[in-house]
Amino acid sequence: PSDINVQGKKLCNYQGCWYYEKNLHAVLDYQKHFKPLDTDIILSSYPKSGTTWLKALTVALLHRSKDGIQSHPLTSDSPHGLVPFLEMNLYLKSSTPDLTKISSSPRLFSTHMPLHTLREPLKDSPCKIVYVSRNAKDVLVSLWHFRSKIEKKEAEISSLNSIVESFCKGVDNNGPVWDHVLSYWKGSLEDPKHVLFIRYEDLKEEPYAQVMRLADFLGCPFTQEEIHRGSVEKILNLCSLCNLSNLDINKTGVSWNNMDHSIYFRKGEVDDWKNHLTTDMANKIDMVIHEKFQGSGLKI
Ligand code: A3P
Repeated sequence: PSDINVQGKKLCNYQGCWYYEKNLHAVLDYQKHFKPLDTDIILSSYPKSGTTWLKALTVALLHRSKDGIQSHPLTSDSPHGLVPFLEMNLYLKSSTPDLTKISSSPRLFSTHMPLHTLREPLKDSPCKIVYVSRNAKDVLVSLWHFRSKIEKKEAEISSLNSIVESFCKGVDNNGPVWDHVLSYWKGSLEDPKHVLFIRYEDLKEEPYAQVMRLADFLGCPFTQEEIHRGSVEKILNLCSLCNLSNLDINKTGVSWNNMDHSIYFRKGEVDDWKNHLTTDMANKIDMVIHEKFQGSGLKI
């Protein structure tokens, strides 16, 4: 199938993934024009899996200085302003965006494309890709709240029902979720030097260890001195949901797509789905997830 209408929006299929039409044009332009630098870092996710958190942590890691984290970029711009989306920001605005204007070094980008699509223009580039995954039922509930906020509607059971339907069929923006996650899971097993797979739940459970892991992968490990100075804890505090959502820039700022930044911060909890999904809905999703992830070695 090449395109379909879901909830009044046209979705187009490309390389096994569904996109809103305008985003697909940007994906094609990205594949045609993007020239990677060896030092580029690309942060990837299925929507609502912890993208904002991963962006903040990466910026915080790369901008840590001897003096700790004073006058930090995260206090003057949102994580999404600092790490633009390739297909929903840069290549949406222009088919050939001027990437020389990006001042951060290394350059930081983000995406919701699956790995095989993302990798096409990267060829043999040694640039690094970090993927954050999250329990599919929490992703779904987070998406439901997010879309309701965008549409300025109450989060209603009818819209939850239709998200469950499209999610399970795999026909949703950036779906199917299982192909998305599996593309990065397999990529991280085959090429662990260039693809890091992080689980949102692990970040919540053992943030210290995961941030150390991220720093090692990005080639900027913490020194013993930094560890003694509490640099890891400072980064975790700076990037906590509570702190980020209370920064002025995230409370009042408006992002690239005219959404206010606060929309990216809600509860940030594991298993919030238990408060919203009916047993039938949860069983339905579990069945699909079980079937699709069977044998992959991945628990999601
Ligand atoms: P909930 O809706 O479950 O609260 P994304 O950034 O990919 O859009 O994902 C948004 C989800 O991540 C939301 O989940 C949001 O609350 C959560 N989130 C945002 N910032 C976070 C942070 N600093 N720490 C933990 N979770 C965060």
